[in-house]
Amino acid sequence: MISNQEKKADIVILISGGGSNLQSFIDACNRGVLDGRIAAVISNKANVKGLERAKIANIPSFIVDHNTFPTRDAFDLELATVVNMFKPDLVILAGFMRILTASFVNQYVGRMINIHPSVLPAYPGLNTHQRAIDAKDTIAGATVHFVTPELDGGPPVLQATVPIEKQDTAELLGARVLNVEHKIYPIVAQWFCQGRLTLRHNKVFHDGVEIDEKGLLFKDK
Ligand code: GAR
Repeated sequence: MISNQEKKADIVILISGGGSNLQSFIDACNRGVLDGRIAAVISNKANVKGLERAKIANIPSFIVDHNTFPTRDAFDLELATVVNMFKPDLVILAGFMRILTASFVNQYVGRMINIHPSVLPAYPGLNTHQRAIDAKDTIAGATVHFVTPELDGGPPVLQATVPIEKQDTAELLGARVLNVEHKIYPIVAQWFCQGRLTLRHNKVFHDGVEIDEKGLLFKDK
């Protein structure tokens, strides 16, 4: 929580790919609707579009390539070293596709959030859109949640839903879901930066009120 309203929250964003969610944070900062400063972007992959986005926005970026580490623990140790250089108030996982060890995650509980492309607890893990289509679901969506050591299992903050259309492919549905991801993720980050969002004993409080275990539901205007 940022107690001093004068100071902008320092944010570190972890990516693995295209970085369209990163772009939504860059845009939100530029529009003045995110009271934070993106101090650094870290990717576990070289040559991804997200790194270009960081460069264009003049944000320092770093590659910590998981392939160059003998173990997951060694990778996470180096990742934490780079993250901690920036003493972030908030760590944002934005399409970061590595499973993180408990010892990494436990350093940031209550100040690390993730977005997952499903309405959790449905479809944790990978291939969420194809799994929803195969199950003949009619609704898909995205969840922003606090990160705990359990994969995609931390308490939800905000969820958004989209319809699944008859002709949908995973790509079409994924694009529809990404569109709402770009709306809900900066909202949650802003709540955090404004000190309106806290995690206590694995429960999420928004404006001091404990929220439902499914999180709040985003309603588009
Ligand atoms: C997003 O759909 C995000 O929800 C998903 O990866 C995509 C990244 O897109 N994240 C996960 O699946 C995490 N388990 P982006 O790189 O364009 O932001």
